[in-house]
Amino acid sequence: MFRTDPETPDVFLTPVEEVFIRSHLARHSGLDADTWTLTVEGLVERPLRLDFRALQGLPQRRFTAVHECFGNPLRPTVPTRAVTNVDWVGVPLAEVLELAGPRPEARHVWLEGADRGDFAGESGVSYLKDLPLEEARTEVFLAHRMNGEALRPDHGYPVRAVAPRMFGTNSVKWLTRVVLAAERPEHLFTTRLYTRVLPGESEARPVREKDVSSKLLSPPDGATVPAGAAELAGYAWSSTEVTAVEIAVDDGDWQPAELDGRGPHPSWQRFRLRYDLAPGPHRVRCRATDSAGRVQPLDGDRNAVHEIRVTAAVSGRPAGR
Ligand code: MTE
Repeated sequence: MFRTDPETPDVFLTPVEEVFIRSHLARHSGLDADTWTLTVEGLVERPLRLDFRALQGLPQRRFTAVHECFGNPLRPTVPTRAVTNVDWVGVPLAEVLELAGPRPEARHVWLEGADRGDFAGESGVSYLKDLPLEEARTEVFLAHRMNGEALRPDHGYPVRAVAPRMFGTNSVKWLTRVVLAAERPEHLFTTRLYTRVLPGESEARPVREKDVSSKLLSPPDGATVPAGAAELAGYAWSSTEVTAVEIAVDDGDWQPAELDGRGPHPSWQRFRLRYDLAPGPHRVRCRATDSAGRVQPLDGDRNAVHEIRVTAAVSGRPAGR
């Protein structure tokens, strides 16, 4: 169930109707805030079943975070650039783990959604992800609001996990079960899919922290713009702060763009460069670097530099005529 992406609009918060929907399994709906419960089980001192009211009674956090799909797990190096920036409200998973009391042998936290279906040749599978306990304590929120409204059914109503610094695949929708365990789960969505070998490494690891990336949004790809001074702009993001974005027009040098700081939340950062576009067709590329020193590759990976084509025209006349 993959829905086509609308082009992400050039606004800081992506309107809910523009946020992509990625649901691998067919059956999810029917969940209701009045009957929803979350169980916390496995290696815990006090197994729990929380309802929606109890969840809302726990401390809430509000944060803005990039929500990015890793891409098709069967084609992990193909860029899809399905990326949005969302304002979430939720309860830190740590609060719920605290109530249940992880036993000393607990090392991993499994997060499971209520949806079931068929994917990649397996039938009747659930959507399950996992994180080491220490990361689950600091990285995961149980979100129930998105851009100021209750989650919509396709986005995980009534409660989903959100791991703000990680790819969207880790943010389990329709969350109903948390398990503490000594081991990672062997599962379609944990050990078979959504794993990758990072550059310079030999072992596959789970897809978790976001890569450094950027996307040009203005002017839109394929646009015709007036020749002369233009603003080339977009957003850059990473699991850490982005520290530089450069733009290259045609075969010109990479030029530093102006870049907003990230602020307290892992949101995206706007960049812009004033550039004099000569009449004619142009190729425009952007490349981000983050505070960990990672730079977007020119090609060959899912976070390769983004490239758009624009045409600069003189006073309404198509260029080059
Ligand atoms: N959670 C469940 N239960 N089932 C799913 O199929 N898809 C994951 C993640 N959580 C998924 C899920 C993937 S691959 C992504 S990118 C995000 O949800 C997408 O969230 P969205 O549809 O709200 O944008």
